[in-house]
Amino acid sequence: MTTRVEILNDFLAINVKPGATIQDIVEKAGSGLPFGCRDGECGTCVVEVVAGMEFLSPKTEKEEKVLKIVEATNPCKTLRLSCQMKIAQPNGHVRLKY
Ligand code: FES
Repeated sequence: MTTRVEILNDFLAINVKPGATIQDIVEKAGSGLPFGCRDGECGTCVVEVVAGMEFLSPKTEKEEKVLKIVEATNPCKTLRLSCQMKIAQPNGHVRLKY
């Protein structure tokens, strides 16, 4: 009962259980995705969810605020903050790009 997470820039893929944070997954997998505050305030960890948004936790209030600012210069509507989202559903496939 895992979901597969791919980090496209790093050619990494890992199977994780629901509840796992993307931040933990990225760090354990050895990805080069940068982090700053790790608290949903700086926007450093923004990623594009290429596929599998439905397997992720809903956006937090902090995340919504930061993404409004980020989206002002990047119109992509599938951006998320890695430090704020978790895997919410099993048997999925999430593809991320940074
Ligand atoms: S590391 Fe700052 S918002 Fe994610």
